[in-house]
Amino acid sequence: MGEVDQVFVQAPEHRPKSSVIVAEGIPLIDLSPINYQEENTIPDSTEGLVKEIGRACKVWGFFQVINHKVPLDKLQRIQEAARKFFALGLEEKLKVRRDSVNVLGYFEAEHTKNVRDWKEIYDFNVQQPTFVPPSLEEDDEQNVQFKWDNRWPQNPPEFREACQEYAGEVEKLAYKLMELIALSLGLEPKRFRSFFKHNTSNIRLNHYPPCPYPHLALGLGRHKDTGVLTVLAQDDVGGLEVRRKSDGEWIRVKPIFNSFIINVGDMIQVWSNDAYESVEHRVMVNSEKDRFSIPFFLKPALYTDVKPLEELTDDKHPPIYRAINWGQFRTARMRSNFAKSNVENIQIYHFKLPQ
Ligand code: OGA
Ligand code: NI
Repeated sequence: MGEVDQVFVQAPEHRPKSSVIVAEGIPLIDLSPINYQEENTIPDSTEGLVKEIGRACKVWGFFQVINHKVPLDKLQRIQEAARKFFALGLEEKLKVRRDSVNVLGYFEAEHTKNVRDWKEIYDFNVQQPTFVPPSLEEDDEQNVQFKWDNRWPQNPPEFREACQEYAGEVEKLAYKLMELIALSLGLEPKRFRSFFKHNTSNIRLNHYPPCPYPHLALGLGRHKDTGVLTVLAQDDVGGLEVRRKSDGEWIRVKPIFNSFIINVGDMIQVWSNDAYESVEHRVMVNSEKDRFSIPFFLKPALYTDVKPLEELTDDKHPPIYRAINWGQFRTARMRSNFAKSNVENIQIYHFKLPQ
């Protein structure tokens, strides 16, 4: 890692590693060659871009993009709306609080698995309505049927429009990235498109308030994203760290104005038969500044059976996973999130086939 400029920072005890590396970090990719106007997309000049994306997915599972063509005013409008919403009194925010049936809306991170993330959240789905997902086992007594209905706050008045306009733009970017990723795997550019006809994608507004005990808390504990692809807008405060695959070190992602951070989720890992792996990341807290971030989580239709793609498997490369039904997987995930106990989250490795 010759390009890495290593500055070692003393890290507090709770952190899993004794140092944090402030590095050049994840690849920065210029999306200028892509053209959103044409339906039948990807010009020849994108060959280099496709290679870069493939390499970034393989080596890091993360990259940053610039010249992405999501209008800056739309991004700034949702950022402003998020800031105003989180600044409301708690009582006002609780009017759109999520509950254990309809899981969309506002919530403060709870104590799960004895750890509390230092953040508050507002979630909405991009497509409405989404269907109620199936349960994991048919005769399951504790089965909870989750609903996804957006809860729009009255304030600020422009909130809903700002969210929906931004969602439309960032979604287009996500599909373009999926075309580039498909090409990088040697697939037809539109190979993934049909999985998103009735997608369950959502946008999350994150607010990480300043924390008086930054050495005792994490903004968001280490995790992998379960969906397909995440397109994250972070502000200029910083705090996101990515686990470098080569050596397991935590690498800080430097904020770059008007860029997005992209990462591969668990479902791409399964589709690609582990060619592209979903990578752990976490968020550090800050003792002085509020931090806001807005991830868009691209997720397939509930009825999708996600399994290694036929084009990417053969006798020499047999499928590593059996099919994962996205709706069932998501239900099981939500249930353990609400269980507030030490229930282990369902993971894709639970679906590994004996090799
Ligand atoms: C997430 C996430 C990172 C951030 O919400 O899954 O990883 O910077 N967020 O807020
Ligand atoms: Ni994440």
